[in-house]
Amino acid sequence: MPDRPAVLFVCLGNICRSPLAEAAFRAEIARRGLDVEVDSAGTGDWHLGEAPDARAQAVARRNGTDIAHYRARQVRASDFDRYTHVLAMDRDNLRQLQRLRAPGTTARLGLLLDHVPERVGESVADPYFGAADGFDATWTDVSQGAAGLAAELAAWTPTASRN
Ligand code: 4NP
Repeated sequence: MPDRPAVLFVCLGNICRSPLAEAAFRAEIARRGLDVEVDSAGTGDWHLGEAPDARAQAVARRNGTDIAHYRARQVRASDFDRYTHVLAMDRDNLRQLQRLRAPGTTARLGLLLDHVPERVGESVADPYFGAADGFDATWTDVSQGAAGLAAELAAWTPTASRN
């Protein structure tokens, strides 16, 4: 079991939604001074090794974060022990994670938006096949999720409990 929170954000391709969730959450933990391990991954393998979609890079940049160096990877079996939280962007990917996890692994599985009280059970907007402004809606969603999650984790990180 990890000795600090460790969060893995998961979507299908790891080039749009989960990299944006990772970026928004990294900004939140930096702002709050929290010690949390963070990464993102995809359940699919179509985009392995690729940088985020150019439209995702652009919306991140507009919101003050550079994600050009992120590279897509696929969820692996060890993620379910390495991370305390494995958070899917939508229900399809959550179901896939539930199939992939081995019995006895320790990660909590859930949806990112379960960490926003009024959005429990909702999915982050999938912008991949839509118009460019869909990425702004995705950014809004992942930012809400990131803020809610960071507020929860602040209660139990070693950094927070020393303050
Ligand atoms: P993501 O978006 O899962 O948010 O990274 C997608 C990326 C690729 C595909 C679909 C969604 N695709 O069909 O290749």
